[in-house]
Amino acid sequence: MIDAIIDTDPGIDDALAILLALKSGRFRVHAMTTVAGNSPIEDTTANAEFLLALAGRGDIPLYTGARKPLQRDLVTAPVHGKGGLAGVRQDRPASLTDDAPAKTVEIVRDSTQPITLIALGPLTNVAQAILLDAEAMSRVQEIVVMGGTFGGPGNMPHGSEFNLYVDPEAADIVFRFPVRTAVVPLEVCDPLKFHSDYFKALRDEDIRRPVTRMMSGFYETLLSLKQEAGVALYDPITVYYAINPSAFKLTPRQISIGLDDSTDRGRTTGTAVIDSESSGLNFVAESLDLQAFRRDFIKLLNG
Ligand code: RIB
Ligand code: CA
Repeated sequence: MIDAIIDTDPGIDDALAILLALKSGRFRVHAMTTVAGNSPIEDTTANAEFLLALAGRGDIPLYTGARKPLQRDLVTAPVHGKGGLAGVRQDRPASLTDDAPAKTVEIVRDSTQPITLIALGPLTNVAQAILLDAEAMSRVQEIVVMGGTFGGPGNMPHGSEFNLYVDPEAADIVFRFPVRTAVVPLEVCDPLKFHSDYFKALRDEDIRRPVTRMMSGFYETLLSLKQEAGVALYDPITVYYAINPSAFKLTPRQISIGLDDSTDRGRTTGTAVIDSESSGLNFVAESLDLQAFRRDFIKLLNG
C-alpha cells in the first residue's frame, strides 16, 4: 500500500486520476487537498467532494488550500467545462477549510509510514507546506508532480505547462527542496489519446455514466479548439507512476523554471546530470510503457 496525500485541482483528468487512485486499492489516502487551478477553489473543492462521494470514500478527509498562486493572480483552464467537470456535478456550495498546507505538515509529521505526496495541480499548497515546516516535509518519501515539459511545445505561453505556469514560484520552491521529486511532463502522456468509448468498459454504472459524460464534454471542447481528436490524460498517468514506476523511464535532472512573465514564465529546463545528488533529487519521466497504462488503467478503475 502507498501512503499518500493527493493534492488536486479537479478538472476532468484529475477526476479520472482520483478515481484511479481510490478504485485501484493500491493507496492508503490519508487526505485529499484542493488547490485553485483548472477552476477556482470553490469548484475544485466541490468537485473533489463529488468524486469522493462517487467513489464511496466520504471517509477520506478533504482539506482546502490555496485560492490563488503564491504571488500571482489565478489563471484557470476553461477547457474543463462548466464547474470544471463538464457540468456533470450538480451546483453545490463548497466548505473551504483553508488548512491544506497545515494539515499536510501534520499528516507527514505524525504518520508512522512515509507519505507520498501526489500533486496534480499547481504546486501552491505543496510549496506552502514546505515554507510552513521544512523539517517535517523533509520526511516525505516522494513528491510526484504532474507538470512541466522538457523540449515539447507546452500548453501555455513560453512553451510552459499549465500547472507550473500558474504558480512558477511554488514550483521553484518544490524543485529546490531536497526530497525525491518525480516529474511526469506533458510529452510522456501526449502520445496516448482517449475517447469516451474507452470508459464504456467500466463495470460500475454509477461511475461509468458521469465519466463518459465528462470525457464526451472534454473531447468536444478539445475538438472545437482544433486540438487533436482525442484526450491526453495527464493526471491519471501521474497516479500510475506511483502505482507502477517500472513502466516509466526516469532521468535525474537539475530543473530550473522561468519566472519572467514576458519571456519564460513557467518554462522548465532540465539539465541531465549523472546522479541524483547533483539533480537535487529531481527526476523527470522520459518515457512510459503506453500499452501497459492503456491495459492497466481500466483494470484498476474496475477494482
Ligand atoms: O497541463 C496539464 C495539467 O494542468 C493537468 O494537471 C490538468 O488537470 C491541469 O491541471
Ligand atoms: Ca490537474
